[in-house]
Amino acid sequence: RIMFEHIRSQFSETFGDDNGVQVIMAPGRVNLIGEYTDFNEGFVFPMTVDRGVYVGIRARTDTQVRVFSSRFGELIEYQLDKLEQPDSGHWSCYVLGVVEELRVLGLVPHGFDAVIDGNLNLGAGLSSSAALETATALALQTLFGFDMSRVDVATLCQRIEHRYAGVMCGIMDQFASGLGRSDHALLLDCRTLSHVNIPVNLDDHRIVIISSEVKRELASSAYNERRAQCDEGVALFKQYDPTIASLRDVTPDLFDAYGDQLSEVVFRRCRHVITENARVLDASAALAVGELVQFGRLMTASHHSLKEDFEVSCDELDCLVDIANCTKGVLGSRMTGAGFGGCTVTLIHMDAIETLRANLLPYTERFGLNPEMFVLQGNLEAGEVWGTYST
Ligand code: GLA
Repeated sequence: RIMFEHIRSQFSETFGDDNGVQVIMAPGRVNLIGEYTDFNEGFVFPMTVDRGVYVGIRARTDTQVRVFSSRFGELIEYQLDKLEQPDSGHWSCYVLGVVEELRVLGLVPHGFDAVIDGNLNLGAGLSSSAALETATALALQTLFGFDMSRVDVATLCQRIEHRYAGVMCGIMDQFASGLGRSDHALLLDCRTLSHVNIPVNLDDHRIVIISSEVKRELASSAYNERRAQCDEGVALFKQYDPTIASLRDVTPDLFDAYGDQLSEVVFRRCRHVITENARVLDASAALAVGELVQFGRLMTASHHSLKEDFEVSCDELDCLVDIANCTKGVLGSRMTGAGFGGCTVTLIHMDAIETLRANLLPYTERFGLNPEMFVLQGNLEAGEVWGTYST
């Protein structure tokens, strides 16, 4: 509601009035477990958060496109068929990339005015860019009424990340943003894209997200490097079994039999992916039947694997996870998302939340950073946002 009013007033301020503006939201996500498994055709288990990206949009009759980012205080204007590719990493590359992909498909018949804002921290590891892409695509779909499934929206948005932002990401973030449901986490098979929404019943426990406040500077090169290392692993196992298409297909037995032929680094990268896939299946099954202790154990095991084997954690994330695990009432904790900074996710008894908050003080003393901690209060679903009109 607050964001709805806010977007409309921003729209009036920027474009004169807010008559006929539609508001569309796509949430960020927190990955509960299943890191770096998506581009290996494995399993992931994310859920949406209670914050997201909001787009206020209205059609024009000409081919002018005007997009205003409230967050950056910047207005971009161009003619629909004359896009100059924006710098990768600039906020507009995600938005205009989506517009361009849809235009090429013949789905954007004319121009529009749009205002974008959100309450998701940028670069915090909660997939603000996936939420931005998804919100843009769904806004254009609402405006022009074209037929496209949410799964196709997710793959289109993933392509934007590859083509416009230069990150060879998997499908998890865009899928979670567009298809995640309130009160559920999404178990996704990244090979077939089949997915199940699993109810999140936490009883007296809560999911807490803590931002390390470390920005992920080197993330895209390190990310693409990890991807190449996984491919290297696949190439070896393929020699022994030609049906192997990805690390998803490498069984623990096969890994034990031939893994020692890999370089030491690639060995560890593969071991992470193979064990993480098993953890995702165990963890989602545990959550489905309310076995929270087991779920928490698997979260912490995932963190260790990401730290030691996949090497995408950092001192700050490790410190946050250690603090959580030393707090009575915490069932498990791990880094979430691509790593190298960003957030941790923790499963904790509600009575222990304030103790955990107090326990973060040494983190601030050690790193000079003030971690933001928030308790997930429900979670959002992507779609049009309605408010009451007074006109
Ligand atoms: C980023 C990517 C995802 C996924 C995670 C790691 O969030 O966008 O596709 O690979 O990292 O699990």
